[in-house]
Amino acid sequence: MPPALFRNLDLDGSTFRQLNLDHPQVEARILEEMSSGVKVYYDRDWPFTRKFCRFLLAHPELLLHRRVLVAGAGLGMETVVAGRLAERLWINDMAPAALELQQLQLQENGIIGVENLDGSFGDLELPPSVDLVMGCFVVYDQETATAMESLLRHTHDRGVPALLADLDIGGHFSRILDRCDGPVRDIGVGTESLSGGAPIRVVQVG
Ligand SMILES: C[S@@+](CC[C@H](N)C(=O)[O-])C[C@H]1O[C@@H](n2cnc3c(N)ncnc32)[C@H](O)[C@@H]1O
Repeated sequence: MPPALFRNLDLDGSTFRQLNLDHPQVEARILEEMSSGVKVYYDRDWPFTRKFCRFLLAHPELLLHRRVLVAGAGLGMETVVAGRLAERLWINDMAPAALELQQLQLQENGIIGVENLDGSFGDLELPPSVDLVMGCFVVYDQETATAMESLLRHTHDRGVPALLADLDIGGHFSRILDRCDGPVRDIGVGTESLSGGAPIRVVQVG
């Protein structure tokens, strides 16, 4: 029997439907994207992202009644958690297949009416009604750091807060936060044992 396209994911008593990244249909779409030259960083179920999902579920007030843009959504379950809690959702990614597959995952979770914003989050024009930008594990090299710095300038100019969760790989994330204009509030810290004890930061900027 072929594997199921979705499986149940239980996060602290809340059940979600998660796309099976090993499903042949999903693998084929990801391989197709790779061969078209798009960099693929969304093809893993990152343990860190699960931790952030649990953090969000423990702090629903961060997302309730919010109109949220998820930057670098990939196939991360943080987007599904946001879709369940927030009032409205937009998803962004540079990888077209990530947006396509994330939409499937959202629909499987009963979350519809989510708009795609493709392209780099560094160049995004924020929709007028967005009142929170969220990003999980989207700063991991110089290129993503530069794009995030640009996004934070836009959110600052618009007076929109950003909720960011990242491993501080190469110190990129900390350096951006040290330089950014808005106030930075640490709302969660820890270490990720599965990636050599890299520090985790969850911050609200602005
Ligand atoms: C490590 S993955 C994390 C995905 C998801 N947020 C999660 O936690 O599972 C990073 C994601 O950011 C996307 N990304 C990287 N740079 C980007 C940029 N400048 N603009 C939009 N998306 C970007 C990648 O395509 C990928 O989907």
